Amino acid sequence: MAGLIPQAFIDDLIGKADIVEIIGSRVPLKKAGREYRACCPFHNEKTPSFWVSPVKQFYHCFGCGAHGTALGFLMNFDRLPFPEAVEELASRLGVEVPREETPGAAPLRTVDEDLYTLMGKAANFYREQLARDERARGYAARRGLDAQVIERFGIGYAPDAWNEVLKRFGASDASRQKLSDTGLIIAREKGDGWYDRFRDRLMFPIRDARGRVIAFGGRVLDQGEPKYLNSPETALFHKGRELYGLYEARQDRAPLRRLIIVEGYMDVVRLHQSGITHAVATLGTATTPEHLKRAFRVVSEVIFCFDGDRAGRAAAWRALQNALPEATAGRELKFLFLPEGEDPDTLVGKEGRAGFEARYADALPLSEYLVAHLAESIDIRHADGKARFVAEARPLLERMPAGPYRELLLERLAQAIGVSAERFLTIVGPVNAAADPRSSGSTRSAARPPARTAHSAGRGGLVRQAVQTLLHFPALATRIDDGDIAALDSLDEPGIEVLRELLAQLREHPAASTAQVLERWREHPLGERLAKLAMSESNTPDAEAATQELVNALRRLAQGAAMSELDALIEKEQRSGLEPAERERLRTLLRESRDPAR
Ligand code: UTP
Ligand code: MN
Repeated sequence: MAGLIPQAFIDDLIGKADIVEIIGSRVPLKKAGREYRACCPFHNEKTPSFWVSPVKQFYHCFGCGAHGTALGFLMNFDRLPFPEAVEELASRLGVEVPREETPGAAPLRTVDEDLYTLMGKAANFYREQLARDERARGYAARRGLDAQVIERFGIGYAPDAWNEVLKRFGASDASRQKLSDTGLIIAREKGDGWYDRFRDRLMFPIRDARGRVIAFGGRVLDQGEPKYLNSPETALFHKGRELYGLYEARQDRAPLRRLIIVEGYMDVVRLHQSGITHAVATLGTATTPEHLKRAFRVVSEVIFCFDGDRAGRAAAWRALQNALPEATAGRELKFLFLPEGEDPDTLVGKEGRAGFEARYADALPLSEYLVAHLAESIDIRHADGKARFVAEARPLLERMPAGPYRELLLERLAQAIGVSAERFLTIVGPVNAAADPRSSGSTRSAARPPARTAHSAGRGGLVRQAVQTLLHFPALATRIDDGDIAALDSLDEPGIEVLRELLAQLREHPAASTAQVLERWREHPLGERLAKLAMSESNTPDAEAATQELVNALRRLAQGAAMSELDALIEKEQRSGLEPAERERLRTLLRESRDPAR
């Protein structure tokens, strides 16, 4: 996904969204005064301490401290990365997310919306065909697929014919071109026409994060080559990035905590059918770092599952190598090997959900698997074996970002050959760090408030009070006199930068709710501190009272500053005398101090 989401759009989205409705559709809310409350969905509790404020468009939990806007809630509860949370909110409101290009960013790839529509139509067509075709239905039944899972995954059947899709959806040159762009039809070699790519196959639609069909995998009924035919790479579909079943896994109400990555379409579908709805698959390719990035945006634990045969073990080692760049603290990566001759499909058929999940206990943590694999092929009892072990470990360590995860692995490797970590380090020599995967490839929006000095917003009672009032009643900013604003310029209190910034921003771009303000500060280093301030209850009953409070706070701040300036000037006059301009300033200050109302 390229292109940044303009801040103005997020602003607008937060302005239109209703946090009570968003949260209410996921958590049962009870009205309590002006707010709503519930048992917190982010921690276990019996008495509700989770509050949702329709005025602030903000939620927070007194129990665990969880808090945020509608977008933040979607990110935390649905486990969506920021851009996808924006997409989700936008699609609920029926608006399209605009993208803006930034200099230096990858050029914005616009996908023809018609292609999605076409894929959706084709998926419907295949589904209808499955309902009609007895042989295909028989095959699905023999594979143990029930009606519910067929429905949930939108499984269909491509009829045994050369041009059914072509006939239905390719009436014009233009529509044939689009069909070809989706990979649904293929041009004849002689250039004299087209034919359907998928014929006589059970069809598995592959969906993107929003549930749109972007590709298909088609399995021959019974025997035939190739067993699975997949859509080619298209504008919609990049095989190395998509995880089959991720969309379906996220449809489950229970929060996702882990994902198990299996090898096949049938494995995913049959695991889901048995209740293991956290199963996903790569699409006939090795797991890429991109796949893992996707997975770790959604969960913190990933289990790779491989067949116990030679091919499975080779695939596991490739997966490990690709996983190393994503191995960072807080993430769990495990490897589960199944008995030879079994795959998740057959095993879950025999053992059911409980039996299959019981196997997770045998999954090897990445570090253990890595050590076991190296030790398997190298005799580490002797010095030359140890040296080879180190030589083979080195490039693996270099694939990892520096950090606690790598440190621990290093210790584990040292332990495996019976030397201290320090000794291991001297043998292995300096290990270059891979780039931290989290610091690259961000698609987050720009247009954030510029980072100013990191003063605290919390210290200084008056500054804090003013910031808090502004957060609760952001619309007030436009009602403050220019004079009161200008008086802040000479102040040097802790947190004053934030107050100035907030006021300036809100006067230029007025905001209607707390949530809008917080979304603008999402990436600012002080955004989190502001969110905490927003959480506190305001004692101020209404906007009128709040305006007074804010103006008073600003004036007292300015007065405080004037007093210290006054003191400094008087002291200087006594010590060394004043310049004419300073004397003038002193007079002004003295006048004002006698008439504080101005
Ligand atoms: P498997 O050969 O292990 O098949 O391929 P499977 O998933 O167990 O399928 P069934 O049970 O025989 O129906 C695993 C995955 O590799 C990809 C597919 O994604 C498949 O699900 N694959 C396999 C292909 O893309 N093409 C092929 O010809 C074979
Ligand atoms: Mn299988």
